[in-house]
Parts: sequence; structure tokens; C-alpha cells
Amino acid sequence: MDDLAADFPPFGLRICHEDMVLRLMRDTDLPEYLDLLSGPIFPDETVPWVFPWYRASVPQRRRNAMQAQWTFRSQIKPESWTLAFGVYVDDVLVGCQDLATQDFQRLRVVHSGSWLALNNQSKGWGKRMRKLILHLAFDHLHARRATSAAIIGNKPSLAVSLNAGYDLNGTTWTTWGDDIAELQHVAVTPDKFQRLNNVTVEGLTDDLRTMLGATSCGSDSEDES
Ligand SMILES: CC(C)(COP(=O)(O)OP(=O)(O)OC[C@H]1O[C@@H](n2cnc3c(N)ncnc32)[C@H](O)[C@@H]1OP(=O)(O)O)[C@@H](O)C(=O)NCCC(=O)NCCS
Repeated sequence: MDDLAADFPPFGLRICHEDMVLRLMRDTDLPEYLDLLSGPIFPDETVPWVFPWYRASVPQRRRNAMQAQWTFRSQIKPESWTLAFGVYVDDVLVGCQDLATQDFQRLRVVHSGSWLALNNQSKGWGKRMRKLILHLAFDHLHARRATSAAIIGNKPSLAVSLNAGYDLNGTTWTTWGDDIAELQHVAVTPDKFQRLNNVTVEGLTDDLRTMLGATSCGSDSEDES
């Protein structure tokens, strides 16, 4: 464990599968991250599911993204947290996969969101990175349910969820930047989750469990990957 991970346990967390690693980004990783999100993410930028944050000018988007990363890190506490993972394939950042929750200690429900740079899409990586955070959530943090949502029409996002075993779970309308959009909600439980083989989770220490409100459900030694 390096010095910074000893002081800030989320930096030590790694979810690994073959050539893919999910880990939190350090400040030294931010230039690569900012360059990635400055490029295209959507094949068609007129679709209603383009992220509101992506609609900002590139300089503004870069500043906002840095502040968002610092906010996510600074707000990890048992009552609520977002683990904003960088997704690395062969040590190159290809996209982001978030895992978030509120009051995990009592509810044990997690939510996720993700994106890949356009050049990195349609290679099966979206399905794998979603499954990696579900391995962490279900098999190591003992979540009872994982939810996600996609704006209706976002077929790759829905396909990623269905591939992991999620069921449809109703629709709602939401505000989306200056617009409104209809969301398709999905949910999956540990028994329905379509797992990968040979996923490993490193760095889920007792200190990190305490930060995440996940102390009453086993330790690393019981949680063999
Ligand atoms: C959503 C996203 C992360 C998926 O990543 P990806 O690497 O492209 O996904 P994968 O290659 O792993 O899988 C894509 C799935 O979508 C399916 N798919 C792709 N285009 C499709 C289309 N037009 N219609 C139906 N299914 C489609 C693929 O067939 C595949 O499913 P399958 O293998 O079960 O058949 C990626 O497309 C992305 O970053 N999109 C822009 C940001 C975004 O919309 N994020 C989600 C917000 S909720």
C-alpha cells in the first residue's frame, strides 16, 4: 500500500479483471481524464441522453470535471458516497464508472452511471466495467440491490444493464439540464447478477469499510475474490 492510500483508503481500492482495472483517479491522473472527456463520447450529439455536463464548452467541462472529482473524493463518508472509478484497460484510461449510495449501512442499495470515450465503445468494455462494480457491491460490500437508469432510447446503456441481469423497474420523468427526459429504471439483486469469472478486489480494508458504512458485513479476509 502506498502512503496516500494508507491515509485515504479509497485510493487503495482496485477491481481487476483480465486487462481491465477500476480505481479512483489521483490528481496526477487528471490530465489524462480531462483529455478523455474533452473528446467525443456520443456518436450523435443531438440525442436526448447527452449528459448535461458534456454540453458545457470544453474549458468549462474540464474545470467542472476536476471539481466534480474533488467533490466525490471529499464527500466519501458512511452516510453517502460516490466512488468515481477511472476505467483502465492495459493502464490506459478509457472511461469512467461510478458507484454511489446513500445510507449504505442501513439500505444496502447502490446506483451506478458510466461512460466510455467514443473510440472505446462497442468493444464489450461497458458490460465488463458495470459487472466489476457489481462484484464489489454484491460480493464484497453485500449490497442487497443495485439500480441504474437510462434515458429511453439509449439502447447500449439498457443493453449493458440487461446483460448484467437487471430487470426493468418502471419509468419516471426527470429534469435533464435545461430539458426533461423519460428514464427507464432497472434493478438487479445478487441472485440475478450475471457474474464474470476471475474478478479480484484489492484494498477493501477495514478502514475503507468504515468510510463506506460497510463494517457489519465481513472483512477482507472473509471476502475472498
Ligand atoms: C453506455 C456505454 C457505457 C456502453 O458501453 P459499450 O462499451 O459501448 O457497451 P458494450 O460494447 O459492452 O455493450 C453494448 C451493448 O449494447 C448493444 N447495442 C449497441 N448499440 C445498440 C443499438 N443501437 N441497439 C440495440 N443494442 C445496441 C450491444 O449489442 C451490446 O449488447 P449485447 O452484447 O448484449 O448485444 C457506452 O455506449 C457509452 O459510454 N455511451 C455514452 C454515455 C452513456 O450513454 N452512458 C450511459 C448513461 S445511462
